[in-house]
Amino acid sequence: MNDLILQEAQRTISSRRLYAKSENERRYCEINEKIPQIAEINRQLAQTAIKILDTLKEGENVQQRLEVLQRQNLEAQEISAKLLQNYGYPSDYLDMHYTCEQCQDTGYANGGMCDCLKKLFATLAVNKMNEHAQLSLSSFDQFSLEYYRNKTDAQNNDCYTVMESILRACQGYAQKFSANSPSLLFYGNTGLGKTHLSLSIANEVLRKGYDVIYDSIINLLQQVEREHFGREKTEVDTLELLLHVDLLILDDLGTEFDTPFYVSTIYNIINTRINRGLPTIINTNLDLMGIRRRYEERIVSRLFAVYECMHFVGSDIRLMKKLNSAPLV
Ligand SMILES: Nc1ncnc2c1ncn2[C@@H]1O[C@H](COP(=O)(O)OP(=O)(O)O)[C@@H](O)[C@H]1O
Ligand SMILES: [Mg+2]
Ligand SMILES: [Zn+2]
Repeated sequence: MNDLILQEAQRTISSRRLYAKSENERRYCEINEKIPQIAEINRQLAQTAIKILDTLKEGENVQQRLEVLQRQNLEAQEISAKLLQNYGYPSDYLDMHYTCEQCQDTGYANGGMCDCLKKLFATLAVNKMNEHAQLSLSSFDQFSLEYYRNKTDAQNNDCYTVMESILRACQGYAQKFSANSPSLLFYGNTGLGKTHLSLSIANEVLRKGYDVIYDSIINLLQQVEREHFGREKTEVDTLELLLHVDLLILDDLGTEFDTPFYVSTIYNIINTRINRGLPTIINTNLDLMGIRRRYEERIVSRLFAVYECMHFVGSDIRLMKKLNSAPLV
């Protein structure tokens, strides 16, 4: 997957380079028409370049001639810049204008990938990861509290009231989202709306222009594992994205295999994001006892101390919808 994304990113960068070139040619044509003196200077500059080549071929007094030509060249450029300004153009109007000056839209600078290529790669990778999340199908608008009406949980709490306050909290969270919002832990039985509400948050946060990665923990860990043990290496990897993204949503914690690599990766993600103050939303069907039993102390203590825990209650809405016993809403 990484190679394809990298190729796509490189294609985008090289189209930026082509665009910079064609825009530069367009500006040359415009100026040649409007400022004939500059057209003349440009002709002289072109001749200068040819003369440099001849000088190199002749092989005599190369250094001296090059210096003279260089001086002429600089003078011509100065005159041209002044003329441009006199005609109301910026003095660098005829320079190349790249999207990224650092690599001049080649994608590579200082012997490695340029930041612009890395950034593009990361954005494309995030889009790819969110592709199979049915983002558009889950919004706050499509979340109905009617499914929780007239139900009580094991402690005899009214499910409607509990879920109403969870819904309000999630809406507020999405509205006020910032790069240092708190982390949330949604727990409770299957089919109660944990995925639905976390995708609703994702939608709003994406709309605000933040990067969000949503996926099941199984998919994400498998991807990290493939890259970690695989042969191919790219400079931007999935784990890095998970550690940096503005909002990370890990769905279905507890469904992954219990391997040392997975456990240490989960710890790494949770711990690093806490240290960086970055928000994470984790969904799990495990209850608090189940989390305690399943995970090591250093993970459990971080989840319980730092994450705001929300207990989803009610009965399986997927089932209710299937049985068509859902109230009309
Ligand atoms: N309050 C709700 N109103 C409308 N649809 C809901 C609600 N809660 C859940 N659903 C729908 O029921 C199904 C199961 O919900 P989901 O969010 O996947 O549950 P969980 O993640 O808690 O297992 C999904 O299709 C979801 O869109
Ligand atoms: Mg779910
Ligand atoms: Zn660059």
